[in-house]
Amino acid sequence: MKPRKIKDNIYWMGFVDWDSRLFDSLIPLPDGTSYNAYLIEGSEKTVLLDAVEEELFYELEGQLENVAKLDYVVALHAEQDHSGCIPQILARYPEAKLITSPKAKGILIDLLQISEESFITVKDGETLSLGDKTLEFIHTPWVHWPETMVAYLKEDKMLFSCDFFGSHIATSDLFVVDEGRVYEAAKRYYAEIMMPFRNVIKKNLEKVAAYDIDLIAPGHGQIYPRPSFIIDAHKDWIDGSLKNKVVIPYVSMHHSTKKMVDFLVAALLEKGVNVEQFNLVVTDIGKLAIALVDAGTIVVGTPTVLAGPHPSAVYAAFLANALRPKTKFLSIIGSYGWGGKTVETLAGLIPNLKVEVLDPVLVKGSPKAADFKALENLAETIAKKHKEQGFA
Ligand code: FEO
Repeated sequence: MKPRKIKDNIYWMGFVDWDSRLFDSLIPLPDGTSYNAYLIEGSEKTVLLDAVEEELFYELEGQLENVAKLDYVVALHAEQDHSGCIPQILARYPEAKLITSPKAKGILIDLLQISEESFITVKDGETLSLGDKTLEFIHTPWVHWPETMVAYLKEDKMLFSCDFFGSHIATSDLFVVDEGRVYEAAKRYYAEIMMPFRNVIKKNLEKVAAYDIDLIAPGHGQIYPRPSFIIDAHKDWIDGSLKNKVVIPYVSMHHSTKKMVDFLVAALLEKGVNVEQFNLVVTDIGKLAIALVDAGTIVVGTPTVLAGPHPSAVYAAFLANALRPKTKFLSIIGSYGWGGKTVETLAGLIPNLKVEVLDPVLVKGSPKAADFKALENLAETIAKKHKEQGFA
């Protein structure tokens, strides 16, 4: 793809990845993604903001064909999807300096063996004149690595945010045209990589929201012509109240746990509590992550197998613990054949979750009348707790 003009002397470069379905060998990409780099031609200096993976250098190299001189490369974030081909870029433009935060310098030397002499490190708030344009570097740690920063182009009121405000979508649109579609993709992105750091990100959000921004140009996904859309969405995901919603990740081997889930779901709905259930054998784990962003309660459903929870339930619990959602309540339901330590094992996997654990419902064999009554009570307790908390 050729460079795409955003404004006079400002171009999108990079790679639209329509084909990939997994990121970092971990994160589902149902809609592909894009790796965005940006070229800014000032009256005196030319700068490339971010880059692409090492193996995609050929694409960026083609886009840089008519760029005879590059004064600076800026690495806002050291992860290789944005930095991987920087060594090749520096080899092509040996006079170019690499601008990073001080922390990113060490990480990039470790990851890519870039020579120390190539670097210029910038402090929080430091500016760089390109002649008629000025870049200001704003340190925004933990979006989502410790070294991350964003760059504000003062004269054009553009914020280059790298992973911050990103979304994984491959499209031919340069700018966001369908905010509903982007909202879901950006929420998924936030849930999967940003949510654990939301307390720091909240401060970064306040920091960047103070700038007069006309366009946000992220490292993944499309450019936001209405920055308040994505800034307000992040405010809500970080600080907004929880929803009157129970998320139920579950797995069932011989239908007993499934019967319990079905009963609990029906009881919750009767009591006015919304539900999102995810069969862990088939679910898109990113959808589960999205649901966790504002879930009032999580109920894990699992059979006992090999004396503990099903491995799929273990994975879901591990993931929830790593993502640290705001969720307030948690319970466990499921069936067992003769014994085991399902509840103890699962409870031990979620030390990061600041939740009140509601009485679990574990049944021997298939659920019977007394077990359904216990599930009814669990639904009642959840409905009461949600009401007390004001979850809407
Ligand atoms: Fe898009 Fe953290 O890299």
